[in-house]
Amino acid sequence: MSSYETLFKRKSMRKFDKSLSVSEKELADLNAFFEKCVPLLPDIATDFRIVKREQTDCRWGEYALLFFSEKKEGYLENIGYMGEQLDLYLAEHNLGACWYGMASCKEKASEGMDFVIVMSFGKSREEDFRSDRGEFSRKDLSKTLEGEASGALLGALEDARFAPSACNSQPWHVTAREGSLTVSRHSDSPLAKVVKKIPNYFNRIDMGIYLCFLEAALTAHGVSFDRTLPYEKGGKDVTYRLD
Ligand SMILES: Cc1cc2nc3c(=O)[nH]c(=O)nc-3n(C[C@H](O)[C@H](O)[C@H](O)COP(=O)(O)O)c2cc1C
Repeated sequence: MSSYETLFKRKSMRKFDKSLSVSEKELADLNAFFEKCVPLLPDIATDFRIVKREQTDCRWGEYALLFFSEKKEGYLENIGYMGEQLDLYLAEHNLGACWYGMASCKEKASEGMDFVIVMSFGKSREEDFRSDRGEFSRKDLSKTLEGEASGALLGALEDARFAPSACNSQPWHVTAREGSLTVSRHSDSPLAKVVKKIPNYFNRIDMGIYLCFLEAALTAHGVSFDRTLPYEKGGKDVTYRLD
């Protein structure tokens, strides 16, 4: 996992200095990092491929990371969870990335898998990233939290808010009860009327992204947890038992 500070450094990078480029070593290290990505659902086969941006219809970045997956319950959340680890890894190494739901690619999917989404990336400078939490545009915690949270748990929930999401829709809703958290998905973005894939496609990826942020934040704040996933039973609420 990337360092805690990277949660507040990352941003969707859409502008690149053309004089900078990603080195062969950075590409090799990124490929090696794929192997270390922790899945949410280990039984779902996934594949990642790096191609030049020109092989896709992405409008920015030097390269595009293509995500493929077997289509099983929870596969979109799983790609969000794994892809966000890559997004954070890229930011940590001054490689600016952007989840790119509107982009498609000509690459054929691996056998038994479907193309899911693209993330564009390219070389950036440290100063291109965020250096202040005030640079984020996010909902106040009070809009997405029900119940009482204090101390380390409150700190973690404040941090997890900074997770990226499609059209910044932030579809997560957290209910805090004594010793537990329930994370559910509320797809209420007004943009869903224009971008039809928001509620049932992108917001599922967003949930995986949020779980990646939440778990990194809980760990950083010293809150240990035990997670239960609902997808195999057709549910959508993720529960955490907190110690
Ligand atoms: C699943 C997903 C799909 C996205 N698709 C696009 C896209 O097609 N085009 C784009 O410019 N940004 C896209 N974004 C980036 C979001 O707009 C961005 O994450 C959000 O506005 C928050 O800003 P930040 O990432 O800079 O913190 C996407 C983000 C996610 C998580």
